Amino acid sequence: MILVTTAGKVGTEAVLTLAAREARVRVLTRHPDKLDALAAAGAEIAVGDLDDPSGIDRAMVGISTVLLVSPAVPAQELNVVAGAARAGVGHVVKVSSKASADSPIARRRGQTEIEAGLIASGLPHTVLRPNAYMQNLLALAPAIAATSSFGSAAGKGRIGMVDARDVGAVAAQIAASPAGHAGRTYHLTGPELISNYDVAEVLSQIVGRSITYRELSYEQNLAALVRAGVPEPIAVMNAQAFSLIAEGDAEWLSDDVPSLLGRPARSFARFAADHAAAFS
Ligand SMILES: NC(=O)c1ccc[n+]([C@@H]2O[C@H](COP(=O)([O-])OP(=O)(O)OC[C@H]3O[C@@H](n4cnc5c(N)ncnc54)[C@H](OP(=O)(O)O)[C@@H]3O)[C@@H](O)[C@H]2O)c1
Repeated sequence: MILVTTAGKVGTEAVLTLAAREARVRVLTRHPDKLDALAAAGAEIAVGDLDDPSGIDRAMVGISTVLLVSPAVPAQELNVVAGAARAGVGHVVKVSSKASADSPIARRRGQTEIEAGLIASGLPHTVLRPNAYMQNLLALAPAIAATSSFGSAAGKGRIGMVDARDVGAVAAQIAASPAGHAGRTYHLTGPELISNYDVAEVLSQIVGRSITYRELSYEQNLAALVRAGVPEPIAVMNAQAFSLIAEGDAEWLSDDVPSLLGRPARSFARFAADHAAAFS
């Protein structure tokens, strides 16, 4: 049985992929009422909070592999690692990012702390390092639909943007057959480097009207995120990440998605077409 913690963008896709393969899969959530589709697909739903080790322990019963994917709060993910070690789990697949102990971005320093805890646990594990998710654009979709424009501090920076569905598919594949993946790190990207100007052009074609992109300063981007309701600590980390993109931080590609899945990574045009209604 595979445990997926939690049912966000990547976890949901991984659960659906595993259930479609008739793998036994359980998903940890604090909001079971939101997961009817996953239950209908055949997943077991375990109710728990990442802040509560006892709920994690209940979810670990009978688990051979854990897919660890959540907002990367160190105390929460280290609770999962400790629970996996107590339960004698055989393998952990950890969705991480550009982890770095001296990053200006707290989330990346947190990822380093989590990965260190995973190493210290002695559990066999695989680390996934995706580039930025295409699905991040969905948070801007209502504004794009209403104003036909969007802004970011990412400047003209190019991004090897990846579809979170591909990250979920890779995570599911490794979780279903972890042999040979222990100790490995995979870098997950889409097939091309695109800037937000390219994003605007693709979206314009998809929705049939002009969508424009505005370059924002860090301060403008931070203020816009806070106005949109993003909690300030997260808005700070996101605006910092966008500013680094302007300096080339996300300008990297890898063949790991096609190598692992045996098919091309989804393009941004594919993603935009699949989500046309959200931007229209
Ligand atoms: N976004 C990107 O561009 C990007 C790029 C590279 C790597 N990553 C990494 O990807 C990971 C995040 O994956 P994701 O984007 O798939 O996540 P996500 O969509 O943000 O989903 C996070 C899930 O965690 C659940 N959750 C939050 N707090 C919880 C708690 N205390 N107990 C139980 N569940 C809780 C949320 O559910 P509820 O709130 O409904 O309970 C939500 O379903 C992070 O490690 C991040 O660094 C992201």
